[in-house]
Amino acid sequence: MQQELPIRPRRLRHSKGIRNLTLETIVNCSDLIQPVFVMDGDTKPEQIASMPNISRHSIDDLVKECTELYKLGINGIALFPKIDDSLKNESASTALSEDNVYFRAIHAIKSTIPELVIFADIALDPYTSHGHDGILSANGKHIENDQTVEILSKMAVIGANAGADFVSPSDMMDGRIKAIRESLDSANHTNTGIMAYSAKFASAFYGPFRDAVGSSKQQAAPLDKNSYQLSPANRREATKELLLDQSEGADILMVKPAGMYLDIISDAKSLSNLPIAAYQVSGEYAQIHAAAEKGWLDLEKCANESLTTIKRAGADIIFSYFSKWFAQNATQ
Ligand code: PBG
Repeated sequence: MQQELPIRPRRLRHSKGIRNLTLETIVNCSDLIQPVFVMDGDTKPEQIASMPNISRHSIDDLVKECTELYKLGINGIALFPKIDDSLKNESASTALSEDNVYFRAIHAIKSTIPELVIFADIALDPYTSHGHDGILSANGKHIENDQTVEILSKMAVIGANAGADFVSPSDMMDGRIKAIRESLDSANHTNTGIMAYSAKFASAFYGPFRDAVGSSKQQAAPLDKNSYQLSPANRREATKELLLDQSEGADILMVKPAGMYLDIISDAKSLSNLPIAAYQVSGEYAQIHAAAEKGWLDLEKCANESLTTIKRAGADIIFSYFSKWFAQNATQ
């Protein structure tokens, strides 16, 4: 029996051609940023166990990797360092040494591939012996906000001197966007942008990343960043952070993690007219790979779906460990 149905949504899903024409969201290679890791020395790349196909690179290897990324159509990288344990301390002093591996890497990449956009991470966790993103108080009980912001502001200027296009504070201290903008401007870096990790949640999905930079290694107990990162339960507080970073002068606002925080991405998109970035973090990447390795999920389909839904929620720029893979496998 034929139903009397004037509206049949399935008409628009009837053939591949119609489906293609009515697609609302398409991820492009040009939307994606690849996070990459650099380490000191000239040894071979070190594969990160919990992140298949992601390695720490020597500076020379990283320059080659970045050249390849650029040729594949990736517009930018987010660079993170693995600092030698011997160079870590309570005051994160290596974060301000201009010839550390991180700043040398930025300089090398910028001189070889000037058009590749470099997002320089501004946070102390790779450099502190305790793995926190800030300086511990004398009693070791809390993170000193203003003292940390002072260091971050200096670090941002060194990053800009080295050639970073954007500095990306990922620490969640109060007032850091304002302070960094002021110090960049007074060093004549008016063209260096700030991508603010505005709504960064205290997520357990950062685990594999902490293996990669070694920020959780020395700890007996798991790192507790709840006094500065947002609670995964708090949507309205995320709004407050996003608006505050915008008012302090951020050029791009970020939400992190991405996949389980699509409501926050959508809020950010409607609250602000700045570009919205989202970071599909290490644990989001690792879980898709792990399930695929077991034969429980289809890697390619899940990776594509995850990126598409992050874009659909409102992300203009997606930081993802799948970026290179996507560029290599892009069908369009
Ligand atoms: C900290 C920082 C983190 C990530 C990047 N920078 C998280 C953390 O240790 O709190 C996570 C990225 C990822 O998981 O892919 N400044």
